[in-house]
Amino acid sequence: MNNNKKAKPLNINTSKPLVLVTGANGMLGQDLCPILEDEGYEVVETDINTLDITNSDMVKKVLSEEKPDIVVHCAAYTNVDKAEEDYDTAHKINAVGTENLAKACAQNDITLVYISTDYVFQGNGAKPYKPTDETSPLNNYGLTKYEGEQAVQKYCKKFYICRTAWLYGIHGKNFVETMIALADVKPESTCSSKSSRAKYNTTAVTTEAKAQGEEQSVIAQADKIALADVKPELKVVDDQTGCPTWTVDLSNAIVKILEESMPYGIYHTCGGGSTSWYGFAKEIFKLANLDVNLLPCTTEEFPRPAKRPKYSVMDNGGLCRHWQKALADYMALR
Ligand SMILES: NC(=O)c1ccc[n+]([C@@H]2O[C@H](COP(=O)([O-])OP(=O)(O)OC[C@H]3O[C@@H](n4cnc5c(N)ncnc54)[C@H](OP(=O)(O)O)[C@@H]3O)[C@@H](O)[C@H]2O)c1
Repeated sequence: MNNNKKAKPLNINTSKPLVLVTGANGMLGQDLCPILEDEGYEVVETDINTLDITNSDMVKKVLSEEKPDIVVHCAAYTNVDKAEEDYDTAHKINAVGTENLAKACAQNDITLVYISTDYVFQGNGAKPYKPTDETSPLNNYGLTKYEGEQAVQKYCKKFYICRTAWLYGIHGKNFVETMIALADVKPESTCSSKSSRAKYNTTAVTTEAKAQGEEQSVIAQADKIALADVKPELKVVDDQTGCPTWTVDLSNAIVKILEESMPYGIYHTCGGGSTSWYGFAKEIFKLANLDVNLLPCTTEEFPRPAKRPKYSVMDNGGLCRHWQKALADYMALR
């Protein structure tokens, strides 16, 4: 909920504020830091070695030494499925780590920008969620990110909670790259006869997909056996709807919020419009010019340890452009 109190302009004179970024080596952090620098901000990049957010003494020490005006908190435990069996680690990083930062930011009068997720919502609605809508996470990851949101609101007056979704970017494993890798499977052996069956070497790509971050666990699978001369077949979940978001667009939205000193509170910084994972994949293959036999399927066909919201579309209030435009730019750059 926005508290409608306009943030005091941070850029009082000519110099830009100092921004400390947590999780700067992550997919978002690696795009965000240079974008902040291009805007003229001085940036302190931290990773788990230089600032382990679960270590409260380290958090206090680093923030009091660096004296940032703003902390953009990108560090997180992002493995949604693994969090189902390891709530304690997810809680330690997403909830306790965020609480450590929130307390230290409040003590040092630092503005805290916390990156949160659409998975705080249950997803049983039919219209885009507003920042003020009720949260009710379905899985441990969503719960721990929600606990982080609670800590930020409890300790900080100067905060922005930026909920994002279905994130992809050049610096991380993500759905776009997984789809392209799955579509690009090559037969293990060359077949002379058109009718010969060949095993496609999909083991590597499916394993990689399983190891990915927040939304990227397997929601699609290439056929393990396929005709060598036939295009790959790919089934992708069509009954989960959300908002694909490019890390560059999210970074630009964060910069906009800071530059315009928008009121402290909760924002939905996700791509505009919405689609299913199937619709997302279809657009990726169209833009990549890849000929894939793409088939829609249900969540039940790909059971995963963590439940996902069926409908986690968020109303972004115009903070990011339409997801298709962003994807086209990403595909042109990658
Ligand atoms: N990816 C998505 O689809 C998605 C969707 C919605 C919201 N989000 C949120 O967006 C933010 C950025 O996500 P992302 O995709 O960029 O995640 P990411 O690539 O997994 O990056 C997270 C970073 O946090 C670091 N980290 C983990 N534990 C830490 C600790 N104790 N102290 C300091 N750093 C630690 C990780 O380091 P190691 O790699 O060394 O562990 C990693 O560099 C997160 O808050 C995430 O919850 C992501």
